[in-house]
Amino acid sequence: MNNLFSNGVVSSIGIGTWQMGLKGWGKDYDENSVIEAFKYAVNNGINFVDTAEIYGAGNSEILIGQSLETLERKNIIIATKVAGYNATPSRVFKSIKGSLRRLRIDYVDLYQIHWEPSIYTNLEELFHSMEKLAKEGLINHIGVSNFSYEMLKRASGYLRDHNIESNQIKFNIVERPDDDLISYMNSNDIKLIAWSPLGQGFLSGKYSFRQKPKGGIRKVNYLFSDKNLKRFDPLLKTLKEISSKKGVSVTQIVLAYEAELNVLPIPGFKNMKQAEEISGALKIHLTSEEKNSIEKSLEVTGIINVKETMFPRIIPNTIVRVMSLFL
Ligand SMILES: NC(=O)c1ccc[n+]([C@@H]2O[C@H](COP(=O)([O-])OP(=O)(O)OC[C@H]3O[C@@H](n4cnc5c(N)ncnc54)[C@H](OP(=O)(O)O)[C@@H]3O)[C@@H](O)[C@H]2O)c1
Repeated sequence: MNNLFSNGVVSSIGIGTWQMGLKGWGKDYDENSVIEAFKYAVNNGINFVDTAEIYGAGNSEILIGQSLETLERKNIIIATKVAGYNATPSRVFKSIKGSLRRLRIDYVDLYQIHWEPSIYTNLEELFHSMEKLAKEGLINHIGVSNFSYEMLKRASGYLRDHNIESNQIKFNIVERPDDDLISYMNSNDIKLIAWSPLGQGFLSGKYSFRQKPKGGIRKVNYLFSDKNLKRFDPLLKTLKEISSKKGVSVTQIVLAYEAELNVLPIPGFKNMKQAEEISGALKIHLTSEEKNSIEKSLEVTGIINVKETMFPRIIPNTIVRVMSLFL
């Protein structure tokens, strides 16, 4: 099967559905609004959908499955993830079946390992199991997430008939991974799928010292600290200036800028307005002057270097399973 990302089929911006799980992101939206917003996005040019078995303890996949009843499955590229604690040679078979059942589909386009498996997992056998899922037609392409340069290189060596086609990592204008990871991915056709492309809402410019986001998940996001709100204020001001001159939203400027960096941003959304802005960003192109002013602001603020590892690999799966209930 051809590389999923090399034939120009995937839209330049995708959509993330952690928020669709309706847990941990505040109580200012509900099932109906998020389903309608999801359908709007995929009917308006966004064809890449990211989910995971752990989002809302399966609820994100369930709501996508419901939405698919009135959408054309074959026009949508569905990517889901096996939780790191289920990424073992035998458990992946159970996980994919659970995802397919909740999504009400018979294959996923891209199956990703959510984070680096524990040191007690036989990695070689795990990747052979991933290939078996592909041979059985349950998945079309293999991807990973939050993999470091070393782990990505090692894992690639275990595959026999397939390639790792993507690594989903935290990436946005102000938070970026190490250069060695990016250059390895570029030279091996491994697509960078950018999670947190809006800095969990930080880059929308709507938050301030007095107005911080609701919901438990963002309580631990250091971007919303007073220190970082102050640090990145010059950048947010620049983004606001560009957006008001162009007559579009700050979020759209951010997504258009990121899409031009050869990554695939997958912004999360909670309502119709956000879905409209996200799909509207597909048509926005920035001039070199606009890009230059963003880059000049970044020279002032600097960029945060993020490390990819999510849970230390030394922690056994049973403990990570409990820890991730609090995500
Ligand atoms: N692989 C991984 O380990 C991993 C980790 C995290 C996320 N992800 C994936 O990446 C996706 C996105 O990343 P993320 O969840 O970290 O967050 P994000 O996309 O950076 O931010 C999403 C939040 O931004 C706000 N927002 C969205 N559109 C907006 C708009 N037009 N105007 C103003 N605010 C807007 C919304 O929150 P408010 O309205 O409440 O501000 C929304 O919940 C997730 O849904 C998930 O699929 C993967």
